[in-house]
Amino acid sequence: MLNITIINGPNLNLLGKREPGIYGNESFEDFLVQLKQAFPQVNFTYFQSNVEGELVNAIQQYGFNQDGMILNPAAYTHTSVAIGDAIAAIPCEVVEVHISNIFNREEFRKISFVSGKVAGVIAGLGLSGYALAVAYFTGKENA
Ligand code: DQA
Repeated sequence: MLNITIINGPNLNLLGKREPGIYGNESFEDFLVQLKQAFPQVNFTYFQSNVEGELVNAIQQYGFNQDGMILNPAAYTHTSVAIGDAIAAIPCEVVEVHISNIFNREEFRKISFVSGKVAGVIAGLGLSGYALAVAYFTGKENA
Protein backbone atom coordinates (compact mmCIF):
# COMPACT_ATOMS: atom_id res chain seq x y z
CA MET A 1 0.00 0.00 0.00
CA LEU A 2 1.12 3.50 -0.83
CA ASN A 3 0.55 5.97 2.02
CA ILE A 4 -0.57 9.38 0.82
CA THR A 5 -1.67 12.29 3.00
CA ILE A 6 -3.86 15.06 1.64
CA ILE A 7 -3.76 18.33 3.58
CA ASN A 8 -6.21 21.13 2.84
CA GLY A 9 -5.94 24.63 4.25
CA PRO A 10 -8.42 27.31 5.27
CA ASN A 11 -11.95 27.49 3.89
CA LEU A 12 -11.60 24.25 1.95
CA ASN A 13 -13.95 22.69 4.54
CA LEU A 14 -16.60 24.76 2.72
CA LEU A 15 -15.98 23.23 -0.71
CA GLY A 16 -19.30 22.73 -2.47
CA LYS A 17 -20.84 25.72 -0.67
CA ARG A 18 -18.05 28.26 -1.12
CA GLU A 19 -17.97 30.37 -4.33
CA PRO A 20 -19.15 27.42 -6.46
CA GLY A 21 -18.41 29.35 -9.66
CA ILE A 22 -14.71 29.16 -8.73
CA TYR A 23 -14.45 26.04 -6.57
CA GLY A 24 -17.30 23.82 -7.83
CA ASN A 25 -20.34 22.18 -6.25
CA GLU A 26 -18.77 19.14 -4.66
CA SER A 27 -17.65 18.78 -1.04
CA PHE A 28 -14.17 17.38 -0.47
CA GLU A 29 -15.64 14.57 1.63
CA ASP A 30 -17.75 13.38 -1.34
CA PHE A 31 -14.77 13.71 -3.68
CA LEU A 32 -12.58 11.71 -1.28
CA VAL A 33 -14.98 8.76 -1.46
CA GLN A 34 -14.52 8.69 -5.26
CA LEU A 35 -10.76 9.15 -4.96
CA LYS A 36 -10.50 6.15 -2.63
CA GLN A 37 -12.52 4.05 -5.09
CA ALA A 38 -10.32 5.16 -8.01
CA PHE A 39 -7.09 4.30 -6.15
CA PRO A 40 -7.74 1.18 -4.05
CA GLN A 41 -3.97 0.61 -3.77
CA VAL A 42 -3.57 3.85 -1.80
CA ASN A 43 -4.02 4.30 1.94
CA PHE A 44 -5.26 7.89 2.25
CA THR A 45 -5.00 10.15 5.27
CA TYR A 46 -6.95 13.39 5.09
CA PHE A 47 -6.46 16.49 7.23
CA GLN A 48 -8.04 19.92 6.92
CA SER A 49 -7.58 22.97 9.11
CA ASN A 50 -8.31 26.66 9.03
CA VAL A 51 -5.41 27.29 11.42
CA GLU A 52 -1.90 27.91 10.08
CA GLY A 53 -0.03 26.27 12.99
CA GLU A 54 -2.20 23.17 12.78
CA LEU A 55 -1.20 22.83 9.12
CA VAL A 56 2.48 23.12 10.11
CA ASN A 57 1.91 20.45 12.79
CA ALA A 58 0.26 18.13 10.25
CA ILE A 59 3.07 18.61 7.70
CA GLN A 60 5.57 17.70 10.44
CA GLN A 61 3.45 14.77 11.68
CA TYR A 62 2.95 13.13 8.27
CA GLY A 63 6.06 14.38 6.50
CA PHE A 64 8.33 11.68 7.95
CA ASN A 65 6.12 8.60 7.53
CA GLN A 66 4.23 8.96 4.24
CA ASP A 67 5.10 8.05 0.64
CA GLY A 68 3.61 11.27 -0.69
CA MET A 69 1.85 14.42 0.41
CA ILE A 70 -0.70 16.47 -1.53
CA LEU A 71 -1.06 19.95 -0.12
CA ASN A 72 -3.48 22.74 -0.88
CA PRO A 73 -2.48 25.47 1.57
CA ALA A 74 -5.30 27.69 0.21
CA ALA A 75 -4.83 31.35 1.21
CA TYR A 76 -1.74 30.49 3.30
CA THR A 77 0.01 29.66 0.00
CA HIS A 78 0.39 33.38 -0.51
CA THR A 79 1.40 34.36 3.03
CA SER A 80 2.99 31.55 5.01
CA VAL A 81 6.75 31.36 5.48
CA ALA A 82 6.05 28.74 8.19
CA ILE A 83 4.33 26.34 5.79
CA GLY A 84 7.11 26.77 3.22
CA ASP A 85 9.70 26.05 5.92
CA ALA A 86 7.76 22.98 7.12
CA ILE A 87 7.80 21.51 3.60
CA ALA A 88 11.53 22.17 3.32
CA ALA A 89 12.01 20.34 6.64
CA ILE A 90 10.41 17.01 5.67
CA PRO A 91 11.78 14.20 3.48
CA CYS A 92 8.35 13.39 1.98
CA GLU A 93 7.76 14.59 -1.57
CA VAL A 94 4.96 17.16 -1.78
CA VAL A 95 2.69 18.08 -4.69
CA GLU A 96 0.95 21.47 -4.32
CA VAL A 97 -2.60 21.53 -5.68
CA HIS A 98 -4.93 24.46 -6.32
CA ILE A 99 -8.46 23.97 -7.53
CA SER A 100 -8.53 27.32 -9.30
CA ASN A 101 -5.89 28.71 -11.62
CA ILE A 102 -4.07 31.01 -9.20
CA PHE A 103 -2.30 32.64 -12.16
CA ASN A 104 -5.41 34.07 -13.82
CA ARG A 105 -6.91 35.61 -10.67
CA GLU A 106 -5.80 38.48 -8.43
CA GLU A 107 -2.12 39.47 -8.47
CA PHE A 108 -1.55 38.41 -4.84
CA ARG A 109 -2.43 34.80 -5.72
CA LYS A 110 0.53 34.60 -8.11
CA ILE A 111 2.89 34.73 -5.12
CA SER A 112 3.52 31.38 -3.44
CA PHE A 113 5.69 30.65 -0.40
CA VAL A 114 5.18 26.96 -1.13
CA SER A 115 5.85 26.34 -4.85
CA GLY A 116 9.62 26.71 -4.53
CA LYS A 117 9.77 23.87 -1.98
CA VAL A 118 7.58 21.23 -3.67
CA ALA A 119 8.11 18.59 -6.36
CA GLY A 120 5.41 20.08 -8.56
CA VAL A 121 2.32 22.25 -8.77
CA ILE A 122 -1.10 21.53 -10.28
CA ALA A 123 -3.47 24.49 -10.57
CA GLY A 124 -6.73 25.28 -12.32
CA LEU A 125 -7.99 21.77 -13.04
CA GLY A 126 -10.59 21.63 -10.28
CA LEU A 127 -10.73 18.68 -7.91
CA SER A 128 -9.22 16.44 -10.59
CA GLY A 129 -5.91 18.10 -9.71
CA TYR A 130 -5.87 15.96 -6.55
CA ALA A 131 -6.42 12.79 -8.60
CA LEU A 132 -3.61 13.78 -10.97
CA ALA A 133 -1.32 14.28 -8.00
CA VAL A 134 -2.22 10.80 -6.68
CA ALA A 135 -1.55 9.38 -10.17
CA TYR A 136 1.90 10.99 -10.05
CA PHE A 137 2.71 9.14 -6.82
CA THR A 138 1.20 5.80 -7.93
CA GLY A 139 2.96 6.05 -11.30
CA LYS A 140 6.23 6.61 -9.52
CA GLU A 141 5.63 3.48 -7.47
CA ASN A 142 5.11 1.41 -10.64
CA ALA A 143 7.99 2.95 -12.60
C1 DQA B 1 -6.90 27.88 -3.64
C2 DQA B 1 -6.45 29.21 -4.24
C3 DQA B 1 -6.11 30.20 -3.15
O1 DQA B 1 -5.68 31.43 -3.73
C4 DQA B 1 -7.33 30.48 -2.29
O2 DQA B 1 -7.00 31.35 -1.24
C5 DQA B 1 -7.99 29.24 -1.79
C6 DQA B 1 -8.03 28.06 -2.64
C7 DQA B 1 -7.38 26.89 -4.71
O3 DQA B 1 -7.45 25.70 -4.42
O4 DQA B 1 -7.72 27.30 -5.83
O5 DQA B 1 -8.57 29.24 -0.72
O6 DQA B 1 -5.78 27.29 -2.99
